[in-house]
Amino acid sequence: MTGQISTTKSARSRFPATADEELWFARPFSGHEIFGRRAPLEIELGTGKARFLIAAAGANPSRDFVGIERSLSYYRIASRRISRARLANARIVRADARMFVDGCLAAGSVRAFHVYFPDPWPKKRQRKRRLLDGVFLEVLASKLEPGGVLKIATDHPGYAGELRPLLQTVEDLEEIEWDSLPTPPPTHYEIKYRAEGRAIQRFLLRRK
Ligand SMILES: C[S@@+](CC[C@H](N)C(=O)[O-])C[C@H]1O[C@@H](n2cnc3c(N)ncnc32)[C@H](O)[C@@H]1O
Repeated sequence: MTGQISTTKSARSRFPATADEELWFARPFSGHEIFGRRAPLEIELGTGKARFLIAAAGANPSRDFVGIERSLSYYRIASRRISRARLANARIVRADARMFVDGCLAAGSVRAFHVYFPDPWPKKRQRKRRLLDGVFLEVLASKLEPGGVLKIATDHPGYAGELRPLLQTVEDLEEIEWDSLPTPPPTHYEIKYRAEGRAIQRFLLRRK
């Protein structure tokens, strides 16, 4: 017996192994520092496997894209894919989206937020776990530049139904036609849900 606690490979893989895998919180985030330039900043919350992020960054080299992902396993997949894509304008950050937006972003610093297929938490008792609620929508609005946008898509009718009246309560945001801006590249879930024939509801909000 050496007194050392032995950890199996699978147990180790459940914990951050490198500094970048630690959750980012309570530390200011500056796109200028991360990317080494001043460019419009777009942030995706709940990036999953980063399909959207990589396509959007590849198509818009003059903008910087940051994906926020809480799950370590998805963070690792996204991180590998982004490195392989060799994009100078895309990064993934492991963080809880609410804590990151509220605690780490400067007011008026973001050109666009993308929230695609957030976990629906369909059971009534789980609803409080949903990412988008009235308070967080106000926080998101405060971090947008004037004229900046919040884009949301969901396949979940209950989530969409509850979101619509909530969005109208956020004074700094106005809803505009989804088709008034170019269609964003599809996410992994969008492709999956379209193939299943599910209806997708989309919201486009602009900071006044
Ligand atoms: C249903 S998946 C959608 C992934 C991707 N947006 C897509 O459309 O393919 C939801 C993702 O959000 C992540 N997520 C859920 N809550 C989060 C939070 N509070 N902060 C950051 N990521 C979160 C999950 O880990 C998961 O990767």
